[in-house]
Amino acid sequence: MLLLALFGRRKLFSPLPLAMSRRSHSPSAPASPRLAKRPRLDFEPLTSEDYKDGLMLAPMVRSGALPTRLYSLKHGASLVWGPETVDKAILHSERVVDPVTGVVSYMGKSGAIFTTHPVEKPYLIYQIGSADPETAVQAAKMVMNDVAGFDLNCGCPKPFSTHAGMGAALLTNSDLLCAILTALREAMPPEISISAKIRLLPTSDDTLKLVERIINTGVSALTVHCRTRNQRKQQPAHIDRLREIVDFVEGMGRGVAVIENGDCGGYEDAIRIRGITGAHSCMIATAAEANPTCFSPTPFVDLERTFIPQYLRLGKYLGIYWGLTKYCAGMFEGKRTNRTRSELKDIRASIRGAKGYKDIEGYAGTGSGEEEFREIVQAIEQRGGRRVKVQVLNSTSTTGKTEAAATEAAPSMISDKVPKSARDEHALTSTSDGDESKDGLHTPPTGSVDPSVMNAPLAPANEMRMPLPAMITGELPTPTPTPRIGHQGRRKSV
Ligand SMILES: Cc1cc2nc3c(=O)[nH]c(=O)nc-3n(C[C@H](O)[C@H](O)[C@H](O)COP(=O)(O)O)c2cc1C
Repeated sequence: MLLLALFGRRKLFSPLPLAMSRRSHSPSAPASPRLAKRPRLDFEPLTSEDYKDGLMLAPMVRSGALPTRLYSLKHGASLVWGPETVDKAILHSERVVDPVTGVVSYMGKSGAIFTTHPVEKPYLIYQIGSADPETAVQAAKMVMNDVAGFDLNCGCPKPFSTHAGMGAALLTNSDLLCAILTALREAMPPEISISAKIRLLPTSDDTLKLVERIINTGVSALTVHCRTRNQRKQQPAHIDRLREIVDFVEGMGRGVAVIENGDCGGYEDAIRIRGITGAHSCMIATAAEANPTCFSPTPFVDLERTFIPQYLRLGKYLGIYWGLTKYCAGMFEGKRTNRTRSELKDIRASIRGAKGYKDIEGYAGTGSGEEEFREIVQAIEQRGGRRVKVQVLNSTSTTGKTEAAATEAAPSMISDKVPKSARDEHALTSTSDGDESKDGLHTPPTGSVDPSVMNAPLAPANEMRMPLPAMITGELPTPTPTPRIGHQGRRKSV
């Protein structure tokens, strides 16, 4: 139905150049009569239960771009967090809808502050950076029609965030932190969920006191990044400290979900971590930044061969600013590849050297990206509005036996829980050649490209969707991307 809504009212492969009439402006709801006629995406509002038994994409400035969120959903993420957006920044933006792709952009003076698509709405948590309840509410009201829930960032330790009283500064100002959450909960309709993402405080007592206050504000979920404010990414997350928090929250009896964050590497790892911590769900940042298919029990491994070309085409179709797509592609890193070192070097160099989508066609192909988008819509539509559940044996023990049991039990449950499209895709690979190690792939071959797509006009990068600089949005300043080949554990903590 959604697919029909998205594609049914026009020729699938429109002969019109996508650059023409791609945008319509609207302050709150789509102004275009054509869009207004589209049925609204109906979905079950989020409850605490929807935050349980899941694997979530973490909020990531820059790296959590729209195509990354869409691929995460396609490959099994239950919910996706958008990058932190500072409340004041969104207040001065204008909501713009692309009438061809349906992409919704909140435009600031010199670029997009936040970009989304209705297809992700049932699963999208918008993360607010704020130090003021009233401003947070105003910002939330601006975007509430495009999201399923709001999350308050209470963990960013960067000075630009903390000096303004936002992020990790809220950890030591629990009155303000709770005032913001309470204001959001009171101002938002019940179908919009509210959550918070915190870091650990140095002591267990202080952490539990803070947690108690947060739960009492009426949040549906609490994510705990298991590092303290002063801990850096290179230091291991203290997942051992989470069990008492989970027990404490459960003891409060409100059914609030506790989401573990920190050092989760993917589907299998989430099962292990939930066995140790008792957390209801896990949230992944760095591993998803390197491979947005990591939410799947069988993630893609040869990203250069299949995933990155798809990603580049999707970015082109959605009109994502090339610099952002290039940055994200530069961060991708699969576990195995069949390419030689010099081939990889050439691929990376061609991405790095490209000035726009046109320049990368030799590697990514000339496909418009519409096919990739349609596959994502299909995969999401097959969920029927449901969030993917990742079941583990509910254990109160941290013994190796329990973990092993949980891991062994996973495959039989996976078949029920992974979206059908993802299962088919992975099944295709495993039956095509029983021995993965032969070609190093879990991914299916790219397949033939629809000739009409080959001839379809190219969607030029949308200059206006260039993300705004950090000093305007308050976002994390990310260094100039340096695409890498084959090295691990290199990113800084946020
Ligand atoms: C590139 C990048 C950007 C991030 N941006 C945000 C953000 O906008 N909001 C936030 O709460 N945390 C942000 N974080 C922190 C992550 O959400 C997460 O808490 C942290 O990386 C630990 O998870 P991990 O061990 O899976 O990486 C970011 C992390 C990375 C790597």
